[in-house]
Amino acid sequence: MDTSTSYVGLRLPHPFIAGASPFGQRLDAVKRLEDAGWAAVVLHSLFEEQITADYDGRIRHMDPSDALFAEELAYFPHADDYPLGPDAYAEHISRLKQAVSIPVIGSLNGTSPESWLKFGRIIEQAGADALELNLYECVTNLATPGEAVEARLAGIVKEVKAILQIPIAVKMSPFFTAFGNMARRLDAAGADAIVLFNRFYQPDIDIKTLAPVVNLRLSDSSELRLRLQWLAVLYGRVRPSLAVSGGVATPDDGIKAILGGADAVQIVSALLRHGPTHVDAMRQGLERWMAWHHFDRLDEARGRASLERVADTETFERAQYIRTLQSWLAYAAPGGRSS
Ligand SMILES: Cc1cc2nc3c(=O)[nH]c(=O)nc-3n(C[C@H](O)[C@H](O)[C@H](O)COP(=O)(O)O)c2cc1C
Repeated sequence: MDTSTSYVGLRLPHPFIAGASPFGQRLDAVKRLEDAGWAAVVLHSLFEEQITADYDGRIRHMDPSDALFAEELAYFPHADDYPLGPDAYAEHISRLKQAVSIPVIGSLNGTSPESWLKFGRIIEQAGADALELNLYECVTNLATPGEAVEARLAGIVKEVKAILQIPIAVKMSPFFTAFGNMARRLDAAGADAIVLFNRFYQPDIDIKTLAPVVNLRLSDSSELRLRLQWLAVLYGRVRPSLAVSGGVATPDDGIKAILGGADAVQIVSALLRHGPTHVDAMRQGLERWMAWHHFDRLDEARGRASLERVADTETFERAQYIRTLQSWLAYAAPGGRSS
């Protein structure tokens, strides 16, 4: 049975990749991922703010020694709170490349092309097999139109692509007015893969202290559906590889991602919960399911549940929406039906 797949031009024995997480921070942890059988590893991110602080002494154009910016800059971690500084990050990649043979994907995280261009090159020279650009941002400026955001993101990808030889994956947030068109713009800008999606780390509110509470929750399978929807819409309609990130907890989730159209399946929360050997369960579950369906190759399954063959996807989505609302009756309490 052939579970191999291609992702950002890399041939992988199966689709399960350790996504960006603290596992990437230590050489011994990455070695454990390789020994357990993960197909590739995405390292934790190096943040744009770290790079500019290190090289220009500024964070988002603000000088930390200027009292004027003290309040804004106090929100950011201190340089020592990051696991690796920019130069140490590049060195870490070189050491990893000597120690493991699975592909190592570096990760840069930010919202402007500054400093990434220079640092992207350093990551490439350090030997990374590919680079994941995490374009996480929450646009709260009410004067910024969506078009400006989209043009800037596509522009970043174009600029980074122009100077790097290694493949570029772009990890995106889901909340766009027309994500399909954004994906097409990333395609035109030269992205080699689109990673669906960043999780938005939305704050809760503590009703005792009246203050927002920011904490990290690991995901569960319920987060997968948003990703499945966009995999299914994009599969076969854009050139870049598609990876899922978010909500893949069980082998069934991994299989669903493939059926939606994923070339690669990134996993973090389940890896943190169950440890590196979780990849065994994922692989065995996939193989059992392929055998049951008599699929010899993963490619036969990929995209089977996508909308590739649906002529009018917008009408299809609208019809599904109306049908979904009608399905509430299954949950109605006895006597809860209005008719
Ligand atoms: C502890 C932790 C650290 C993470 N660090 C990064 C990071 O450095 N860069 C990044 O792009 N994503 C990071 N992520 C996000 C994950 O890569 C992933 O997109 C997200 O957790 C959703 O996948 P999951 O449902 O499998 O957890 C982190 C997630 C967790 C839980």
